[in-house]
Parts: sequence; structure tokens; C-alpha cells
Amino acid sequence: MPQTEQKFFGSFFQKRTASLISDAPPLALYIHWPFCLAKCPYCDFNSHVRDRIDQPAFAAALLRELAWEAARLGPRRLTSIFFGGGTPSLMAPETVGALIDAACTHFRPAADIEITLEANPTSVEVSRLAAFRQAGVNRLSLGVQALDDAALAGLGRRHSAAAALAALELARSIFPRLSFDLIYARPGQTLAAWRAELRQALALAADHLSLYQLTIEPGTAFEALHRSGTLVLPDEETAAALYDATAEAAARAGLAAYEISNYAAPGGESRHNLAYWRYADYAGIGPGAHGRVSVGGDLLATRRHRAPEIWADRVARDGHGSTRETPVVPRERAREALLMGLRLAEGISAAYFEARTKVRLDDAVDPDMVSAAIDAGYLQRTESHLIATGEGRRRLDALLPRLVL
Ligand SMILES: C[S@@+](CC[C@H](N)C(=O)[O-])C[C@H]1O[C@@H](n2cnc3c(N)ncnc32)[C@H](O)[C@@H]1O
Ligand code: SF4
Repeated sequence: MPQTEQKFFGSFFQKRTASLISDAPPLALYIHWPFCLAKCPYCDFNSHVRDRIDQPAFAAALLRELAWEAARLGPRRLTSIFFGGGTPSLMAPETVGALIDAACTHFRPAADIEITLEANPTSVEVSRLAAFRQAGVNRLSLGVQALDDAALAGLGRRHSAAAALAALELARSIFPRLSFDLIYARPGQTLAAWRAELRQALALAADHLSLYQLTIEPGTAFEALHRSGTLVLPDEETAAALYDATAEAAARAGLAAYEISNYAAPGGESRHNLAYWRYADYAGIGPGAHGRVSVGGDLLATRRHRAPEIWADRVARDGHGSTRETPVVPRERAREALLMGLRLAEGISAAYFEARTKVRLDDAVDPDMVSAAIDAGYLQRTESHLIATGEGRRRLDALLPRLVL
């Protein structure tokens, strides 16, 4: 092509690409690593234990599926990447680096792109954490779960509290941003014991904490123990007191409850998880990953095959391991956006909700139930937003089925 023509088409394509990027919604990218050293008895995430893992084959499959997804999504601004699991800290740092590089080539990374990796204190070691940082990870999410050895044993964890603390200290010195997870409302846990553990956790916290109430998930070892009466959870009243104590202590330490189980210093919120709760576009690659992506005029619900080996075979055959992809119709979009958005302290913007779901916010909820919930102090309706109060968020599971039309 002659130079002038090349210049013209070059700038035309640049402009065209720039306008496509500004029209298309920004993207959050989730990458799933489905393997763990052992299965924790409470966990129903898509995680598998294998004697041997063909790391290069899984790395190649993830890269291939990412390329396939990128080709159909087109140019997008990439706001976050999240390596979740499973235990992604078991991935080779070179694989993490290759995936970050590929994502930043396929898409246009935001200047302040957030790149999180979930790590487990058992698999964390000095050289690995530093290598993950070098690969481009700028936020670590560490699965501490408890700061007490007996509780860790009860949760089936393979690390001690001391190992978790050492990993935390090391991670703080390496990563600009750091979060860790704890599970509370454990069997036999008293309010006083949780307060003491929380005090310790808050003293160790950086800009973010995830504090989850233990839930009994179908199909887990804990479910069987719970059903047989061997595992007894704190009663509802104690659980509520534990939840309130958590939010109060976190707030005193400067970490606001911006979501039901997530606490952050100003600006420390997980941008990736905010994309889910705000019902923004996110792509999910890897076994069992799901996504909500705008393609053409549709919002597609995507899901990949859960079994790692079957997923990898499908990727080798078709370039992707999708099981099914369905357009999300406006009524379903509205339901999903409500389920997600009311988890957030900021609530749901009516204008954004309507633009995203094609349903008016006030048409998506039962007006009588909204009034009753406002009177009871569970909801707030401002001119621009629908917000679940702290009390409302604590009861969200009970509230939502009554509220959502
Ligand atoms: C994908 S998992 C974990 C990451 C990492 N593999 C680990 O175990 O540290 C994300 C988090 O969900 C939480 N979680 C998993 N199952 C849970 C349950 N049944 N109840 C409460 N929290 C749970 C744990 O805190 C866990 O760290
Ligand atoms: S909690 Fe983490 S380490 Fe345990 S089985 Fe689930 S994903 Fe794996």
C-alpha cells in the first residue's frame, strides 16, 4: 500500500478502533485455575485435586480460549484481570505472565488496571510471590480463613496461623495492594472470640478484607456433617451479632462495608468484584468460568465446561470450552442486576439500571414490598438510587425474593 494511503487507512483504522472502544462497554476479565492441593470441606468452588497437572497444556488452553473470546468481543478497555480458583498461586508465574501479556495485547488495558491473584498460604513461597508481582500482578488476595490453629484444622486447612501471618507479611512487602479472607460464624465461635480475632486481623489489614460468614454449601463434606448434626453453626441471633460486630470493628479501623462481605479503605475496593456487583461486562475463561458479555446487541450469559480435562479437550477442538451461551432477556437482566446491586452499600443507580437492563428500576420491583421494606428500615429510595441499608443487606437473602418481580 502506498505511504499516503497507508497513513490514511492507518489513521482511519486507529480512529475506527478508538470509536469502537469508546462505544463498547469496558471489560473485566476472570481467569479460572481449577486445581487445589486438597479439597476444603466447606468449599463448593470448581476446584479439583490431581496427582499430576499438565501445566503447559492448561496454560496453552487458557491462552487459546482467551484469544477466542477476545476475537468475538473486539476492542475493549480492560479495567481488571482476576486470577481465581481453585488455587491460582499454584500456577507457574510464567503462565500468569503470559496470560496478562496476552490480555493486554488483545484488549486495551486501563492505565490503572487492577490485576489480582488469589493465593493460598500453603502454596505461597518467597520466590513465587515475587515472580507473580514481576509477571504484572498488582493485588494479592490471600486465603487466610482463620487466625487460630484449631479453627484452621476444623476448616480442613493445610496451613497454620503462623504460616498465614508470614505469607501476609511477605505479601505486604511485595504487592501494592493486598486483601485477605477470613471465615467467621464457625462452629462454636463466640462473639468474644471473633472480636479478638477480628482485632488482630484489622491490625494486619492493608486496604481490603473479605470477611465471609460460613455457609453450608450443597454437596460439600460440611453439608453431610451439618445434616447429621455433627457440625453445629451458631444460631441466627449469634450470627447476626457476629455480622454487626464485624461491620462495626471494620468501620472503626477505617474499612467501610462496601459490600455484604467486603471491607475497604477509600479507593481500596476490589474493582474487579465491583464490576460483578454493578452488573458490568465481564468475560470468564477457564473451566466453569461464567461471564456476562455484550456481543452485538445482546448481553450473553456464558459458561465454560466445569471438568478441567473436558474443558481442555473442547478448547483444543473448538477454540473454546463453552457449554451454553444464552442471551439474557431484559426481565432476567433486571433480576440479576438487582440481586447484585443491592449487595453494595452504594446501591443501584436507576439511570444506569435502565440503560443496562432496558427495564425501569421501579418496574423491576414490587412497589408494595419496597414501601414496606423502606418503612422497616431495610431499603432507601433516593431520587437516583435504590439502596439496601446495613440492616437490609444483612437480611438480603430473605428480602430479595419478596422484592424482585
Ligand atoms: C475461591 S475461594 C479461595 C481461594 C483459595 N483457594 C483459598 O482457599 O485460600 C474464595 C474464598 O471463598 C471463601 N469461601 C469458600 N467457601 C465458603 C463457605 N462455604 N463459606 C464461607 N466462605 C467461603 C473463602 O474465604 C475463600 O478464601
Ligand atoms: S477453599 Fe480454596 S483451597 Fe480450599 S478447596 Fe476451595 S478453592 Fe481450594
